[in-house]
Amino acid sequence: MGKVKQYGRYAFERVESLFDVAFGSEHNPLYHLGALGWFFYWIVAVSGIYLYIFFDTGVSRAYESVEYLTYEQWYAGGVARSLHRYASDALIIVMMLHLVREFLMDRLRGPRWFSWVLGTAILWLVFASGITGYWIVWDKLAQYVAIVSSEWLDSLPLFGQSIARNFLHDSTLSGRFFTLMVFIHIAVPLILLFVMWIHIQRVTRPDVNPPRALGITVFAMLIILSLVYPAESQGPADLSRVTSNIGLDWFYMALYPLLDIFSGMTVWWIVGVATVFLFFLPWMPRKKTFSAVVDLDNCNGCERCANDCPFNAISMQPRSDGHPYLKEAVVSVKKCVGCGICVGSCPTATPFRRRSALIAGIELSDKPVMQLREQVIRASAALTESPKLLVYNCAAGPNLTTLTGPGLAVLTLPCIGQLPPSFLDFIISRGYADGVFLTGCRAGSCHYRLGIEWTEQRIKGQRDPYLRERVPRERIGIFWAGVDHTNVLLSQLNDFRERLRKLQPAHKVHKQPAVKEDEDKVLDHA
Ligand code: HEM
Ligand code: SF4
Ligand code: SF4
Repeated sequence: MGKVKQYGRYAFERVESLFDVAFGSEHNPLYHLGALGWFFYWIVAVSGIYLYIFFDTGVSRAYESVEYLTYEQWYAGGVARSLHRYASDALIIVMMLHLVREFLMDRLRGPRWFSWVLGTAILWLVFASGITGYWIVWDKLAQYVAIVSSEWLDSLPLFGQSIARNFLHDSTLSGRFFTLMVFIHIAVPLILLFVMWIHIQRVTRPDVNPPRALGITVFAMLIILSLVYPAESQGPADLSRVTSNIGLDWFYMALYPLLDIFSGMTVWWIVGVATVFLFFLPWMPRKKTFSAVVDLDNCNGCERCANDCPFNAISMQPRSDGHPYLKEAVVSVKKCVGCGICVGSCPTATPFRRRSALIAGIELSDKPVMQLREQVIRASAALTESPKLLVYNCAAGPNLTTLTGPGLAVLTLPCIGQLPPSFLDFIISRGYADGVFLTGCRAGSCHYRLGIEWTEQRIKGQRDPYLRERVPRERIGIFWAGVDHTNVLLSQLNDFRERLRKLQPAHKVHKQPAVKEDEDKVLDHA
């Protein structure tokens, strides 16, 4: 499984790089697949409401009402019908790509199983919504879908009476049964909406709206497709005749030809085993995550960690320890994925604090801030060649462990967002290195969702805790790289070293630490 993911991820990121060139990284649709899923859902919902106003839910008039919408009301009804169909197809495309991407990028293990498992339910609901939609048009395709689907359902020993029996002849198809199908086509998408909502409950600031330019472009493409190639019916259903030469919608009905080859039960086994396999993927193999731990003696209740956590894992609760602060941070172990982004946001996680035991308000149990500070001091002591460069990368980004040399040391964090900006100040103002280079996942694709964004904002002074003005920005290099970008990353690193070579060594510029801090100041003024 590891190798499949490794090669698959490389291939996927190559395609993402090509899309970056074509669309720019901000508008790259592959970075907004979940958001595009929501976007298509809303198009389907709005166009569906319009169609429903003119749709006749009776079996004898359903086909005619759809024909009326398609031809008599072409500019509103015809386009709405085509939009309804093409946005539904597009939903399948982005959903499948989103599934593959989350799998390859390994964003499903540990506490992240939640979104994945709900995604498995979403898959079924999307297909059920689409298939029942084809059914109610009551054309030849609907007849085929209705008969094949109901025979397939009948192969399960669940229903007392045969469902397929309804489709033996026009006289056996009751209006009530048909109305039930219309009801299901409305109820299932509503359930889908509810499950989609739960699906994103464990992430903060979920990306549910594509960037405006991407949304407009995609919508315009759907309109053009609707005008050039409008959705049409395939002739009225006639239960006295066997359907032939049916054009299937391969997005929703790719499995239907299997029902011609295998028995209904065999196809249930195939989809059942595939679903169970998907369901359990987050635990194959189980991932051990270290969650964040709050140290109340060092927490002043400033809420920054709760605001920055990408996984809704921190809540602020009334103080329980008698300290003169209103609130304290509480971490939910069930939700914490161990990214460390909260540590990067905590004002007490500063290496300047003069304490034998440096403990921050919030810590990753396997990578405490004190260890980060010791790593800097140790790595710096081993650098013998100028310019001295410390590179921070994240475990999910390109592997740089072989890069270490006499003038360069690589320090790996779970996520680049774990690095408090004060570390950059500490390293440069104390002369531990002449420059610091930050890298991690590719831009727009942070493994822990918000690590890159928060790091950039903290450095630019747009998000607390800010990187101090006094830190010379020319000594900080940043390049976000995908796993297919290792060569570009290396050349960026070389360029940065060349620029550092032209500067004075940091220890000559900053002989003394400019500001001395103590822990009380940090706690009170944060
Ligand atoms: C209608 C279909 C779907 C929609 C609209 C949708 C939407 C979303 C959105 C908006 C996010 C948050 C992305 C972010 O802000 O980082 C997300 C995350 C996710 N989705 Fe989906 N999704 C759909 C189907 C699926 C399916 C079928 C699966 C897999 C079986 C899946 C698995 C995941 C996972 C694993 C995450 C990541 C959560 C994390 O980062 O921890 N989704 N989805
Ligand atoms: S002091 Fe640190 S742990 Fe406490 S609320 Fe602020 S950021 Fe969170
Ligand atoms: S490590 Fe911190 S930021 Fe990351 S999920 Fe856990 S509590 Fe949230």
